[in-house]
Amino acid sequence: MAESYRVAILGATGAVGTELLTLLEERDFPLSDLKLLASPRSAGRTLSFKGEVLPVEALDEKAFDGVDIVLASAGGSTSKEWASKAVAAGAVVIDNSSAFRMEPTVPLVVPEVNPQAAASHRGIIANPNCTTILMAVAIYPLHQIQPIRRIVAATYQSASGAGAKAMEEVKAQAQAILNGQEPVTNSFPYPLAFNLFPHNSKLNEQGYCEEEMKMVNESRKIFGSPDLRLTATCVRVPVLRAHSEAINLEFDQPFTPAKARDVLSQAPGVKVVEDWQANYFPMPIDASGQDDVLVGRIRQDISHPCGLELWLCGDQIRKGAALNAVQIAELLVEKNWVKPAVAMAN
Ligand code: A2P
Repeated sequence: MAESYRVAILGATGAVGTELLTLLEERDFPLSDLKLLASPRSAGRTLSFKGEVLPVEALDEKAFDGVDIVLASAGGSTSKEWASKAVAAGAVVIDNSSAFRMEPTVPLVVPEVNPQAAASHRGIIANPNCTTILMAVAIYPLHQIQPIRRIVAATYQSASGAGAKAMEEVKAQAQAILNGQEPVTNSFPYPLAFNLFPHNSKLNEQGYCEEEMKMVNESRKIFGSPDLRLTATCVRVPVLRAHSEAINLEFDQPFTPAKARDVLSQAPGVKVVEDWQANYFPMPIDASGQDDVLVGRIRQDISHPCGLELWLCGDQIRKGAALNAVQIAELLVEKNWVKPAVAMAN
C-alpha cells in the first residue's frame, strides 16, 4: 500500500500558501491529513480542499504534533522561530523563506537541477528565491553541456513576490490613479502601478541589493559551483504574478542558438516559446498559472563570440515558490527521504 503523509501548510492564507493548497489537490499528493496554519489573525477562517472545508488554525506550540511534512511560507522570522520546533516534533520542513538557504547543512533544492542534495537533509530543506529557481531551471541544462563562464541577468519581478497584500495593493493603486486619486502604498516604498523601481531590498556596500545577492549566492550553491560568475539587476514591475528575466550567458566556446534551443526543448520544466515571424515570445500573462518556465528569444550575443542571450518568464507563485516546494515534497516521498538520514545536531 502506498504510504501517505500528514502535511501542514504554514502561511496557508498567503499568496504562496493558497497555491500550495491548490497544488496538493491538483497533483494528488499522498496525504492522510492536512493542517492549515497561519497567524492568529486568520484563526476561524476556512479554506476548501478536495471539496472539504478545512479550518485555518493559529500557529502554536502543539501545531506540529504528528505532522510529517511542513510546507512553510510565512516569512523568514516565522520560519526562524518555528522551523526547529517542527523538526523537534519529527517533521521535515520545506521552507520557502530565505532564513536557512545559505546554511551549509541545509540543502537548497531545485528538483530539476540538484535533487540528490535533498537526500542529506537534517530536517530542513530550503526552497530557493523565485528569481533563482526560474533562472536555474532554464540555464542548468546548458551548463551541463558546456560550463557557463559568466551570467549577466536583469529581472522584471511581479508584485506577487511581496505577497498577497502587495498584489491587492497594485490593483488598488491602478484604480486610484485611473480615478485621479493618490495611490496608497504600504507593501512597497513607492507606487508600483504605472511605475517600476529597482528591487527595494537592503543594499550592501558594493551597491547590490539582497535580491541580487540571493541570485548570486543561491545559484552558486544549487549548481555546486562556488566560483560561478554572476551579476544581476533586479527590478520590481507592475505585473501581478509572473517574473521575467533577460539573461546573458558567456561560455568558453560558442554555444549556438540552434543547439541551445534543441537542449532546452528537451529540458524538464522548460517550454521553448518562440515565433520569430510573429515576434511572439514569453510574456508574464502566458506564464501565469503554468508549471513550465517559458524561454525564448534565444540568440547569439553580437558583442561576444561565446555569448548567448535568452529571455524567460515563469510563474513566481508556482515554479518560483509553491510548485518547487511541492516537487521537493514529492521527491522526498518517491525516494523515501522524508525522515532525515542524519539527525539534526542540537
Ligand atoms: P495571516 O494571513 O494570518 O497574516 P503573504 O506572503 O501572501 O503575505 O502571506 C504570508 C502568510 O504567512 C500568511 O498566511 C500569514 O497569515 C502567514 N503569517 C505571517 N506571519 C505569521 C506568524 N507570525 N505566524 C503564523 N503565520 C504567519
